[in-house]
Amino acid sequence: MSNIQSVLHETRVFNPTDDFVKQANVSGMASYRAMCDAAAKDYAGFWANLARETILWHKPFTRTLDESKAPFYKWFEDGELNVSYNCLDRHLATQPEKNAIIFEADDGKVTKVSYRELHGRVCQFANGLKSRGIKKGDRVIVYMPMSVEAVVAMQACARIGAIHSVVFGGFSSKSLHERITDAQAVAVITADGQFRGGKAMALKPAVDEALSLGGCKAVHTVIVYRRTGGEVQWDDNTNVWWHDLFNSQPSACEPEWVGAEHPLFILYTSGSTGKPKGVQHSTAGYLLGTMVSLQWVFDYKPSDIFWCTADVGWITGHSYVAYGPLAMGATQVIFEGVPTYPDAGRFWKMIQDHKVTTFYTAPTAIRSLIKLGGDLPKQYDLSSLRLLGTVGEPINPEAWMWYYTVVGQSRCPIVDTWWQTETGCHMIAPLPGAMPIKPGTCTLPLPGIMATIVNEAGDEVHDQHGGFLVIKKPFPSQIRTIWGDPERYKKGYFPEEMHGAYLAGDSAHRDEDGYFWIMGRIDDVLNVSGHRLGTMEIESALVSNPLVAEAAVVGKPHEIKGEAVVAFVVLKGSRPADAAAAKKLAEELRNWVGKEIGPIAKPDEIRFGENLPKTRSGKIMRRLLRAVAKGEEITQDVSTLENPAILEQLKEVIK
Ligand code: PRX
Repeated sequence: MSNIQSVLHETRVFNPTDDFVKQANVSGMASYRAMCDAAAKDYAGFWANLARETILWHKPFTRTLDESKAPFYKWFEDGELNVSYNCLDRHLATQPEKNAIIFEADDGKVTKVSYRELHGRVCQFANGLKSRGIKKGDRVIVYMPMSVEAVVAMQACARIGAIHSVVFGGFSSKSLHERITDAQAVAVITADGQFRGGKAMALKPAVDEALSLGGCKAVHTVIVYRRTGGEVQWDDNTNVWWHDLFNSQPSACEPEWVGAEHPLFILYTSGSTGKPKGVQHSTAGYLLGTMVSLQWVFDYKPSDIFWCTADVGWITGHSYVAYGPLAMGATQVIFEGVPTYPDAGRFWKMIQDHKVTTFYTAPTAIRSLIKLGGDLPKQYDLSSLRLLGTVGEPINPEAWMWYYTVVGQSRCPIVDTWWQTETGCHMIAPLPGAMPIKPGTCTLPLPGIMATIVNEAGDEVHDQHGGFLVIKKPFPSQIRTIWGDPERYKKGYFPEEMHGAYLAGDSAHRDEDGYFWIMGRIDDVLNVSGHRLGTMEIESALVSNPLVAEAAVVGKPHEIKGEAVVAFVVLKGSRPADAAAAKKLAEELRNWVGKEIGPIAKPDEIRFGENLPKTRSGKIMRRLLRAVAKGEEITQDVSTLENPAILEQLKEVIK
């Protein structure tokens, strides 16, 4: 609650400057309100007009929104298009030599790729995929480092109508295996390894291991991009080098025209069960969302140099690296490395070198860069910047103010963008030439996005106490289903109490200006460094260790990461005898989770108890565990616990 109070008292307001308003795509609140009114008056017509103006259709649509099988909505269903055509071919006539991608490698080497070149490469690789028998509707896993090739792989899948599922390179072989089998993928596109922070790290072994775990019989092809030149194991039956496949192919490839609702991709994300869910996105509605949000929220101009720092393994890297900027014909920066190598000035140097105008990153990166060198931005010329953005988690007002004054030199509006893997594009975010901004709030919904806050009964609440964030009407870029599990989709996002609204899974409240303040998740999902982690996933990883009998995982506030993972573990044998033994075992379990899920899921802290605090009916009292993790005094009555004494044990922090 103290958090809510503190943000409610935020009084700093920053109006867009006259210069910004003058040149903005949407200028002034009146224009924003007019767009919202247009959407309210004729909802389908509003989106239909945008879809006609924005997308190049191979066959125009005649039906806008089909709600007959709600919540399985269909948008623009009888239209046909191709996303790769919209991202590449459309620019060939007007700006073939414009840089599509400025790629900066970990070691600083810069490669520029024009729209003409990128088009050629995507066609060549698409032909390569076809030569391996990969066709429309097949699922293809992309497990690659940040590279031009990762974007080429995604675009090539889109070109032939194959459905990609990108798996973040930091996920373990187990996580990769889970995704390969769930999607029943026929191919994996990977690299021998990746460079990060001056070090070469292998990637291919994780693919080999994942495929050896069984259930992957459908995988007939593994395409390997040579990046580090490291040793790789090779299976002649299935493995093929990227360059061998690529070089022999012609650089023209007719796009596969697909229906508007054809799945463009599946992206796995954490939910409140142990099993990640495959969020399935559409072709047209998704593309439209990425394009309109670039125009509205990023105020996109053809002269911009756009840089979104997200990895293509996350939704942000899909919408604002692989698709949106290309569809808009933008020049964008793609970075292979890490913000702290060779030093914590890397981002600022890159903004200076590439004259970046629009910079989009996560609060966790901002917080860690403040800590590592709050004055460093001053050593660089950041005058090219005109707009800053954040995504992934609430930004604390102090970090916001630093971003605004030090990086943006009090000149650049900040767009704090609230959205999710499931929503495909921004939902609540400032239109920077219209809204006054305040530190810590994502402000107001985009035109045509009917976001509001409701109570447990699904009724709208208008006071400042907050409740559940929902979106009342279907919107084009939203999730279509969970791959292979439509029931989970329906139950999870459209529970009966919400009367047909989309339940986002976040709690939020509104201030007196109607601005939204996101308070956090309402389910058992943590947000660690802007990444979603299911507590149940980490718990199941822990209990799969032969030494562990039971585990409960909670989050606690963390200065840099936003949230840290704290695990309470009951061993099958007795508790570790002393601090040294506990420390050793905790490290072993942390590494175990790293191997089971990926290093991002490693608990920050592990505490051992003989039991966990439970009610008499055996339910783990997570609320109590959260308080224990935070070091808060327990004020609530614990007499109903089966084992109140256990709390003392669990308070012991392993140092
Ligand atoms: O809790 C919200 C938080 O991140 C969740 C979505 O995570 P994911 O699907 O991984 O997508 C992250 C990138 C879009 C949301 O449910 N979140 C995202 N953006 C914000 C945020 N919380 C507060 N403010 C934001 N701007």
